[in-house]
Amino acid sequence: MKKKYPDTLPDIQIIEEKDKRLRLKSKDVTFPLPDEDIKRIHDMLDYLEMSQVPEICEKFNMRAGMGLAYIQLGIAKRIFVIVYEVEEGVFERYVVVNPKVKSTSEEMVYIEEGEGCLSINRPTTGIVPRHARMKLIAYDEYGEQYELRVREELAVAFQHELDHLDGILFTDKIDSKNPFKGKDIYRSI
Ligand code: NI
Repeated sequence: MKKKYPDTLPDIQIIEEKDKRLRLKSKDVTFPLPDEDIKRIHDMLDYLEMSQVPEICEKFNMRAGMGLAYIQLGIAKRIFVIVYEVEEGVFERYVVVNPKVKSTSEEMVYIEEGEGCLSINRPTTGIVPRHARMKLIAYDEYGEQYELRVREELAVAFQHELDHLDGILFTDKIDSKNPFKGKDIYRSI
């Protein structure tokens, strides 16, 4: 049976590249999170999941996104969410608060088709080197601590969002003189 989605999108206003707030270093939060943050986090998850359902994406003229950081809403808190489609129509949801990276693989990969970002609305091209695997510790929205290992595409998404917490955009990591530098060194996924 097909999953039912709301008729309207959650109220998520994403700021764009030119907005200087994207360059802020976000700050750790304390628990318990206020109800408005819990709601916002759930809205962000719903928004991302809906953006990945082709009919909904088209209906609302959205761009599909896998991750979204608080700073993309203009709020400098160390919180991001990721929605990962494991198989068609089946989504894993990650709420990541105050994350700390425990370890990263030496092996580096890059997304063959290039990374994207809901705050960057222009064509981009080039290689963004990322660790193939990583281990981190974080909290969920209720203050529950957990440890997580991620790999491949999901690991890239985590690194992309971790960068947002420090005011870094994926385009910063592309060599402007030679956008495809490293093509023969890193593994494409
Ligand atoms: Ni982004």
